[in-house]
Amino acid sequence: MTELQIHLENVQQAAAKIRAAGGDRTPKIAIVLGSGLGGLAAKVENPVVLSYGDLPGFPVLTVAGHAGKLLVGSLGGVPVIVLNGRKHFYETSDAYPLKTMIRALKSAGVEALFLSNAAGSLRPHIGVSELMLITDHINFLGLNPLVGPNEAEFGPRFVPMSDAWDPALRAKVKAAAQANGITLHEGVYVAFRGPSFETPAEIRMAQGWGGDAVGMSSVPECILARHCEMQVVGVSCITNMGAGLSDEKLSHEHTIANATEGAAAFERLVIAAVQAF
Ligand code: HPA
Repeated sequence: MTELQIHLENVQQAAAKIRAAGGDRTPKIAIVLGSGLGGLAAKVENPVVLSYGDLPGFPVLTVAGHAGKLLVGSLGGVPVIVLNGRKHFYETSDAYPLKTMIRALKSAGVEALFLSNAAGSLRPHIGVSELMLITDHINFLGLNPLVGPNEAEFGPRFVPMSDAWDPALRAKVKAAAQANGITLHEGVYVAFRGPSFETPAEIRMAQGWGGDAVGMSSVPECILARHCEMQVVGVSCITNMGAGLSDEKLSHEHTIANATEGAAAFERLVIAAVQAF
């Protein structure tokens, strides 16, 4: 079998397992939990839990703080799929695990993808443990998950990226934040490949580009979801100021600890927002 044939089969099999786990619930929303934001998984009502290991072609995870579980259940009574853990492009340049994950969700009936991540702030007014709604992104990964022959089964060769972060869903998330007294900044997310954190010079460059936060994820997921015409919305949980903007020493442990601090507001926001989607 060719790589594409294996991929197509993995997508079909994983989607069938996700559909079966849902029973008569067919979630139209999937939520991808970022580093330190896994606590939302515990809020899922009546969950059926699948391990990524049981889903053909799904990522095999290596980063601490990423569990590798897919839950089908509901949040605030709304059927959802929650993905706790994903593969980053600092671990591999193989896009297939991520492609399988996103396309299996699409095949299982998901229409909207809610992405989340831990990120560093580029702006003094966007503080640690606060949330930022992603309005747009800059792909500075040096990679695009759609490089290679186009897999036309899923979408077109050239994918428009204006309004990649869906304006209508963004308005709903903003309204949910307002109604619940949650501070929600808005801004442009710049994706660096990592795994090293940025240098202060790189942070100044990203500020000059018009970026508001930096991180190492979510952009590949967004591109793949737009390719297969899923709507995308996303929130960054600010875990630190970008390198050189404060005296903090950056580390993964620091990211997880501060994400956990912002997690309560993140959880309330997602639960309120999905009820309005
Ligand atoms: N840079 C990149 N990724 C991150 C950061 C950061 O400052 N904080 C959390 N994830």
